[in-house]
Amino acid sequence: MVKDLIWDDTLSVQIQEIDEDHRRLVELFNILNHSVEEGDASNYIEAVMEELISCTAWHFRHEERLMLKYGYENFEEHKAEHQELIESARELQQKILQGGKPVSNEDVEFLERWLVGHILSVDMDLGSYLGEVM
Ligand SMILES: [Fe+2]
Repeated sequence: MVKDLIWDDTLSVQIQEIDEDHRRLVELFNILNHSVEEGDASNYIEAVMEELISCTAWHFRHEERLMLKYGYENFEEHKAEHQELIESARELQQKILQGGKPVSNEDVEFLERWLVGHILSVDMDLGSYLGEVM
């Protein structure tokens, strides 16, 4: 089984409203991980995956609003990264839906890197910027 993501300080960007979103995404990821491990029905697993991707897309809009409000200079770059992340998850989702294949551990690992990679790289920079100006 893929290890659950555990929320700890290394994932915090030190901005409470962003951390709250990230915690929720981590929680959804763990629900997905467990449902794959337990071999739940594919329509249920697909619904969890849809919820994870939709909530991530919503969270990105939230970050983009904060970036605009506080004049973040890397707005365009960060937004482009968001678009790429959503596209790559949608691609995986399409592959699963069209191929009629169950979600594999490999797919779950991809989504884990996808989520953590985003929080640990670009969002840390955004967090430290917002920490200074908010
Ligand atoms: Fe984020």
